[in-house]
Amino acid sequence: MLIQTITPNATYEFAADVRTGLTKPGQKELLSKYLYDDVGSALFEVISRLPQYGLTRADERLLRRHAHGIVERLATPVSVAELGSGSGQKTRHILEALCRRQRTTYYPIEISASALAMCERELSDIESISILGFEREYLDGLLEVAAQRKTDQRLLVLFLGSTIGNFDRSAGIEFLAEVRRILLPGDWLLLGTDLEKSSVQLLAAYNDELGVTAAFNLNLLARINRELDADFDLAQFEHVAKINHEARSVEMHLRSLRPQTVHIPAADLRVEFLEGETIWTESSHKYSPEEVFSMASVAGFRCEAQWIDEQWPFAENLLVAE
Ligand code: AVI
Repeated sequence: MLIQTITPNATYEFAADVRTGLTKPGQKELLSKYLYDDVGSALFEVISRLPQYGLTRADERLLRRHAHGIVERLATPVSVAELGSGSGQKTRHILEALCRRQRTTYYPIEISASALAMCERELSDIESISILGFEREYLDGLLEVAAQRKTDQRLLVLFLGSTIGNFDRSAGIEFLAEVRRILLPGDWLLLGTDLEKSSVQLLAAYNDELGVTAAFNLNLLARINRELDADFDLAQFEHVAKINHEARSVEMHLRSLRPQTVHIPAADLRVEFLEGETIWTESSHKYSPEEVFSMASVAGFRCEAQWIDEQWPFAENLLVAE
């Protein structure tokens, strides 16, 4: 696989975002995209295998069962771009079904170099596939993919795993609209959305008893220590998962276990924490099946088909750019 990388200002941007988030009046925040360095991406792979976290398995089941039905609806020739490929395991079903019909170029777009490498290991044995990875933010990568397309080439964009849920609801719709602006009418977006379920089920999924999600969350502080030379004492913070009923989301926070001061030299920052104060690190929004139709339509898509998993409420939605 060819991988195109650009990372010159990454540390500077990380420091600036950490500074903005930790000096916010009221609730301190860190952006959830920073959970995914090499360690965080590996921990997320483990989360996706936990019995309590059914999301990834539901996504994979739907893609396995319906890959044919999905691919049959597409006009060829079509190239595939994936926003956040992860290990690529789930994508195999779609790519295999498509490669039986045509030679296919697959463009994984990822901010994690190790995830891109894992994705290549996973998928390069598929016959009739070419893989061209982009180590980029999603929209930057998609713009480059769109610029490379040939005149008669359609594009299928994959945005799986309910990563959309990590945006606020309105930001999620705006993101879909931005994707739509890069596409041409008749292109497709296959969107995975985790559906609403009981608080008991959600809390078990986001606060697993093995402590893998806790490690995933705390690794963000460890990453700030590693990359920005900070002195967070990880033993003095704990992982918290809570339901936000109004937002219909699960939130992850890191709670300070005592009053403490943390220094982050590369962000030119000294931060005070009260006992019990939290840093909000992620929201994971849950959807109703009908809501996806209206989100799609506001963003300039039509929902052509929707498949729902019976074991773990999750929907795969095939959207067409209008
Ligand atoms: C990647 N994303 C959809 C996951 C989620 O469920 O929101 C990230 C995650 N956070 C905690 N566990 C998994």
